[in-house]
Amino acid sequence: MTTTVTTPHIRTALPGPKAKALIDRDASVVSPSYTRCYPLVIERGFGAMVEDVDGNIFLDCAAGIAVNATGHAHPEVVSAITEQAQRFLHMSGTDFYYEPQVRLAEDLAAVAPIEGGVRSFFGNSGTEAIEACIKLARYATKRDNIIAFLGGFHGRTLGALSLTASKAIQRRGFGPMMAGVYHAPYPDCYRCPVGLSADNCAAECLDYLEEQIFIHLVSPDEVAAIVIEPIQGEGGYIVPPDQFIQRLREITKANGILLVADEVQSGMGRTGKMFAIEHTGVRPDMTAIAKGIASGLPLGVAAARKDLMAWPPGAHASTFGGNPVSCAAAIVTLRLLKERLIANAREVGARLMAGLKALQDKHPLVGDVRGRGLMIGVELVRDRKTKERASNEREAVVAAAFERGLLLLGAGKNSIRFSPPLVLTADQADTAVRIFDEALTEVERSGGSALAAR
Ligand SMILES: Cc1ncc(COP(=O)(O)O)c(C=O)c1O
Repeated sequence: MTTTVTTPHIRTALPGPKAKALIDRDASVVSPSYTRCYPLVIERGFGAMVEDVDGNIFLDCAAGIAVNATGHAHPEVVSAITEQAQRFLHMSGTDFYYEPQVRLAEDLAAVAPIEGGVRSFFGNSGTEAIEACIKLARYATKRDNIIAFLGGFHGRTLGALSLTASKAIQRRGFGPMMAGVYHAPYPDCYRCPVGLSADNCAAECLDYLEEQIFIHLVSPDEVAAIVIEPIQGEGGYIVPPDQFIQRLREITKANGILLVADEVQSGMGRTGKMFAIEHTGVRPDMTAIAKGIASGLPLGVAAARKDLMAWPPGAHASTFGGNPVSCAAAIVTLRLLKERLIANAREVGARLMAGLKALQDKHPLVGDVRGRGLMIGVELVRDRKTKERASNEREAVVAAAFERGLLLLGAGKNSIRFSPPLVLTADQADTAVRIFDEALTEVERSGGSALAAR
């Protein structure tokens, strides 16, 4: 594949022979807990395009689960990684000092949506960022309890998993969970938990928090933090009304509770602002950051109000966290986001959104199209009135898109997420809509028989 290729091209049956051979090897040695939704075996990538081991070319609207913010192998990111790798690969930022970690913390302090000064703790992943937020919230408030939201995903280590309430399989067999975690309903306006519509909503679902959880389960003065995804990611790309986040902030302030924004998926420019919570005007006390921050290298950050991050040496640390090569990648990623890519997410995101919304007129399967910037979810339903979830159809559409060269991922029970690299061009957005249209047509035409065949 040359760097000028911008459209998909499928030349073998999928998976092709080389892909199949690797998948067979994987099956006997790699953990079966991974959820592979289609047989993609990547050989290389550039920008928003990916080539598999058999020479098939795909348009990537999954970006390694919203990670490749600057696209695959962005030359400036690759050269920053190479330069840093040639100097030193590791020195453990918990024991010694190096410039890339300090510089990144400075750059993050300048963009984090948090009021006042900001300090950063560095880990390797989203789940570690959340663990750090949980521990710091307990430490700083001297309170034990945490409130999270149904449908939320915060990671899979045991503290973060206790907040995660996305799919039961993710928790099944791993209990008991961390004590002191309560879950409140998340405002899914398409399926409003209290039967309202987005226009007449005054965030009534928060009444449940104040009138049920705080009254019957846990006193607010014993709650350390409320952890929320400003846009629910794994849960289905669900965008809450601004007033929900705003009222939540009032509740936290009134009760001395910390507000933690989990921006692991929604952050780093994806929504057309650096962080999704900025769309609401709310400033949290802490922000968990990972995925897109280092364009694909492992890095997780818990960014917090400076006065809160006052734990003593030894209280929390990580051998690999803030690895210098990951920090070097993140510094360039942040610069590229600010220079052009956040604006691109806004502009191309608006085009992609318009294209996908237009498909609603044509395809009864499309129940809802929602999102911000290049974080767009399409919810599939069997019947627009009953909103019966089209879960099998969702799997079939994702598979049909793959067969045509478009990489997508599911989210929630019956939604499809579009989370492409933020370098996606207007033409590529149009290509994604065209292929998605074809995939929907195939699944709608073939109905049950195509689904059964898969
Ligand atoms: C919102 C959110 N928080 C946390 C995580 C966990 O991140 P990681 O898989 O890097 O541990 C994810 C991963 O999908 C996520 O979407």
